[in-house]
Formats: sequence, structure tokens, C-alpha cells
Amino acid sequence: MIQAEGLTHYYGPYPAIQDVSFGVRKGEILGFLGPNGAGKTTTMRIITGFLPPTRGKVILDGYDVVEQSLEARRRVGYLPETVPLYTDMSVTGYLKYMGTLRGMPPKAIKTRLNEVVDVCRLGDYRKTQIGKLSKGFRQRVGIAQAILHEPQVLVLDEPTIGIDPIQVVETRKLIQELGRDQTVVLSSHILPEVSMICDRVLIINEGRIVAEDTPKNLAAGLQGVDRLEVEVGGPAAEVLPVLKGIRGVSNVAHVNENGRHTYTIQAQAGQDLRDEISQAIIRNGWSLRSLQLVGMSLEEIFLRLTTHEEL
Ligand SMILES: Nc1ncnc2c1ncn2[C@@H]1O[C@H](COP(=O)(O)OP(=O)(O)OP(=O)(O)O)[C@@H](O)[C@H]1O
Ligand SMILES: [Mg+2]
Repeated sequence: MIQAEGLTHYYGPYPAIQDVSFGVRKGEILGFLGPNGAGKTTTMRIITGFLPPTRGKVILDGYDVVEQSLEARRRVGYLPETVPLYTDMSVTGYLKYMGTLRGMPPKAIKTRLNEVVDVCRLGDYRKTQIGKLSKGFRQRVGIAQAILHEPQVLVLDEPTIGIDPIQVVETRKLIQELGRDQTVVLSSHILPEVSMICDRVLIINEGRIVAEDTPKNLAAGLQGVDRLEVEVGGPAAEVLPVLKGIRGVSNVAHVNENGRHTYTIQAQAGQDLRDEISQAIIRNGWSLRSLQLVGMSLEEIFLRLTTHEEL
């Protein structure tokens, strides 16, 4: 549905994004995840046709967003980072206005208005002045305007930012519902949010894509076999040097929690030392109470990918 190739954008002398390429399949929910200034908004503005890239191109449903901008934009609903809402308009007044701006026939606007008000649960606020709505409800009006013309692609820039936890849950549910029929691209710097909503995640940092996978595979891929945790029944003063002495072990951390001795063992990259470790423990007559691979949380993966730490 969307094919972005080699996107690079310079605002001044420095590139905001560099050589960003990705695809989004029809019906997929793709998440852009990255810290402040990573280039999420820039990328989203480019794929919605609001900002022509310095280099590269985007094909959306077969249309080049720069060269066939009108056709492409007709297919996109965009929730920008800051929604330009007219605060003195009523919810329905604003939505009608947006529909007219997009060239929708009055009859279609009327029907569609009722639908989007329903979908975005704005029923009780139809006549409310936008300026009097809470942040979360304003965000819903922003989503309502984005879906008004029934676009096939929805681009949502930080859709849950600044809204309270209860409304966040509601908004996420709404996005997931929308994602059933539409292709959605959203950005966030909240990891659990992205892993909850998205089918696929693209981690972007300093203007470049640093990882791309399903939330599950991202966690699994970096999890590997090289970090594990064992609980050993035996004197720590003896266990520790034995574990450290196993070939391929690069580091061992010991924790004593009320007499429960656990050791987190870091092996050299990619090495699976489960057999060597369990055999060494048994050989010394200690008891091996548990042994497990330690996965990284998405937070850890994110930090590893976005800070210059060695994996
Ligand atoms: N209009 C602009 N003029 C100059 N530089 C800009 C402009 N917009 C963004 N930048 C720069 O481009 C880089 C990427 O910004 P962008 O807004 O795309 O990041 P982001 O990932 O959306 O960040 P955030 O999480 O803070 O919204 C940043 O270094 C930013 O300072
Ligand atoms: Mg942004």
C-alpha cells in the first residue's frame, strides 16, 4: 500500500532523515518508534505528501505522493502532531467544514459525519465548541477529521500523546478497530503502546531505521541464547569462580536474595553454554535449581538500538 524508497530530508545543512526505506502492506498497522527528534514526524509528513523529500520517493496505492499528490492525498487521513483545530467551531461544524474542504458532496458529509461521530464516540459532544473539549476528546476530533473522507491509509502522529490513561486505552482501542479495515501508520515513543497496537515496528533513530520487525521478533531476535540466569544451591564463594572459569563466559553477576543465590551469566556473543554450565554445577555437587534464558524487554532493546552501546 505504501512504498517508501531512500527518503532523505534536509531542513538545513543537517539531514533530519537519511535513506529511509520501508513498505506497508494493505491492512497492516505499522509503528514508528523513536526518541525525540528521531525523524518520525518528518517521515510522516513526507508519506502524507505534505513535505516533499529532498531525495527518495513514496508510492501510495500506486500514486507518487509528490507527482500525483492529489490522488495520493485523497487516500490518506492524517492526524498531525498538533491538530489545527478551530477552537470556536462546534465538533460537527468543524467536521462539516473539513468535509467541504476535501470536496465531499454535502449529502456524503451528512451520512459520514454521523458515522465518524459514532466511531470516535463523540455523540455527546456534537454541538460542543472544540475549545471546550478536553485534550483526549480533541484528539478524537482529530482522528474523526482524519477518517472523514474514508481514506485507505491513516497516518497518526503520536495519537495518544498528552491524554490521560483512561482515554489512552480508549484511543488505542479505536485505532485497533480502525486498523481492521485500513492501513495505519502511527508514531510513538512509548514502547508498550507500539507493541500492543502494531503488527510491525520500525525503530528509527537519528534519522535512520535501526531495526524493523514484529514486536515479538524484535524481542526474540535480540534475546538470543547468550544471557542466562541460574539459581544454584551451593556456596557462592565457590560457585562464582567456577562459573566465571567456564570457557565462553564473559561476565557473571551474583545476587543473594534471602539465601537464594542467582547468577546472571553473559556468554560471548551467540554462544549457548547451557550444557557446560549445568554440567559444571552438577559436577561440583551443587544443586541446579533453575536455569533460564534471560530475554530483554522491549525497553532494553530500544535502548540498545538507540544508544551507541555494543550488543
Ligand atoms: N521545520 C523544521 N526546521 C528545521 N529542523 C526541523 C524541522 N522539523 C524538524 N526538524 C529537525 O529534524 C529532526 C527530526 O525531527 P522530527 O520532528 O521528524 O522528529 P520526531 O521523531 O517526530 O521527534 P518527536 O518525538 O520529538 O516528535 C530533528 O533534529 C528536528 O530538530
Ligand atoms: Mg514528532
